[in-house]
Amino acid sequence: MFESLRAVPADPILNLSVLYRQDTNPNKVDLGVGVYKDETGHTAIMEAVARAEERLLAEEDTKAYVGMAGSKRFCELLAQVTLGADHAVLADQRIAVAQTPGGSGALRVLGEFINVASPNATVWLGNPTWANHHAVMQSAGFTVKEYPYYNRGTRAVDFDAMLNALQNQTQAGDVVLLHGCCHNPSGADLSLDQWQAITDLVLAKGLIPYVDIAYQGLGEGMDEDAAGLRLMANAVPEMVIASSCSKNFGLYRERTGTAMIIAANAQQASLAQGQMNSVIRANYSMPPSHGALVVETILADPKLKQMWRDELKTMRKRIKDLRSQLVDAIKAEGVTQDFSFIERQKGMFSFLGVSAEQVDTLVNEHSVYLVGSSRINLAGLNQRNIAYVAKSIAAVL
Ligand SMILES: Cc1ncc(COP(=O)(O)O)c(C=O)c1O
Repeated sequence: MFESLRAVPADPILNLSVLYRQDTNPNKVDLGVGVYKDETGHTAIMEAVARAEERLLAEEDTKAYVGMAGSKRFCELLAQVTLGADHAVLADQRIAVAQTPGGSGALRVLGEFINVASPNATVWLGNPTWANHHAVMQSAGFTVKEYPYYNRGTRAVDFDAMLNALQNQTQAGDVVLLHGCCHNPSGADLSLDQWQAITDLVLAKGLIPYVDIAYQGLGEGMDEDAAGLRLMANAVPEMVIASSCSKNFGLYRERTGTAMIIAANAQQASLAQGQMNSVIRANYSMPPSHGALVVETILADPKLKQMWRDELKTMRKRIKDLRSQLVDAIKAEGVTQDFSFIERQKGMFSFLGVSAEQVDTLVNEHSVYLVGSSRINLAGLNQRNIAYVAKSIAAVL
């Protein structure tokens, strides 16, 4: 049976990490893989996380099963973090929440949930989007189509084309996947006016918004980064949200995320919770506990929460500073091409906007590792390598 299997092509981003590790050039720089790195190039455990873990080690007294939707308290706290503690959806109990194995687990659970509720829906993904959105949504059983999102010429959201496609090509009941903030891979986010326009369109056409928020807090702030999805949640009867604690709590390998379903009323939310739990039961039965317990410990303790918010602020500020510094450093190399869009974009990623051949040269001749699409992870820059990266970019232009 297995002799018929075909080899799966290597994941280009993970493959890049392998090549980076093998490279002996002392100047090598990894701008490929999508994890936050500090000034020393390390993806450190956040101090608030380490403190919460110490507390859990001393106090946790059982490893009994947690249940399909995970910890109720974690789910409540995450719904507040995502929607804001005083959001009407919470007051009206129009929400079903489950703790999931990372944002990816949430995306898959919500995909399968929608498939139960609306088996013929088409899922619309932006072009470009996080590559795994395609795989996850296809595995969940959907037909996937694309709407235009980023204009490589203007280096900004192609909003007219996006709106036009969603207006003219979608059907009632279709699902539209949007990035909550810090768009991966482009760094180009929707403005609040644009969120409002999409909300109006979703209402007019009867579409289901599906918001993936994997970088809350790494753009402008925890509340600012969720403002668009909060505005939308205020207006639409139904919506789903996948959120991840991988980046903003640095809990990548602990697989911590949340799947949220907003329904028209409390009764439908309760039905949705039951269906979502049954999807989970048939998949992995129950989520891993450790990461969610860490997050719950932090969010429930004012001191730890403040410590975490401060650390997140430092990370956010560092990324913003690096954006400005890269633009300046490229300019200082005498480059006349305008790279100021990097400063305007949000979160960890931007497209450099160079060709595939130029990316190859950066990787092969300069040991500056970036994804073939020219996506760079700004957090891979630091004071030791930024001038070298700018010089290398200037050399390939
Ligand atoms: C846009 C987006 N969504 C979701 C995820 C999933 O994150 P995780 O499953 O690690 O929590 C990522 C991770 O890179 C992402 O970039």
